[in-house]
Amino acid sequence: MQRTFIMVKPDGVERQLIAPVLAKFQQKGFTLVGAKLMQLSKEHAEAHYAEHKERPFFPDLIEFITSGPVFAMAWEGDGVIDEARKLIGKTDPKEAAPGTIRGDFAIEKSKNIVHGSDSIESAERELALFFEQSELVGANKQT
Ligand code: CMP
Repeated sequence: MQRTFIMVKPDGVERQLIAPVLAKFQQKGFTLVGAKLMQLSKEHAEAHYAEHKERPFFPDLIEFITSGPVFAMAWEGDGVIDEARKLIGKTDPKEAAPGTIRGDFAIEKSKNIVHGSDSIESAERELALFFEQSELVGANKQT
């Protein structure tokens, strides 16, 4: 069974959107197999967003993602990586369809409420960066 990493960002936590985000994935039929509220260190944030290191917005991205607590989650289900991306919507909330998390709850690209892994490789890497195996429930611990 596939697993993915989903994170409510500081703007989503601040705006009390953890519950609506949880509801979205649960209503779709996916299973929550891990979750925790965390304050990311600069080092942890830089490791998570390493692929964006050369982008001009990288320093602002790191400052923002460490500006308050995030809610890290592991979700499981058939095709959950791609389906979660559909539920989340496009990176720029102005382009995200109504009904998606970003389409319904955000305006700014830099404050787009939630992050979701974009591939099997990213999901494996990001889940390992945020969770110990012992923090994930269920028999099948693979992504
Ligand atoms: P996320 O899915 O978490 O992955 C990288 C993040 O960088 C992305 O969501 C956006 O929040 C952010 N991002 C992408 N492009 C820009 C941009 N042009 N300006 C600011 N932030 C951006």
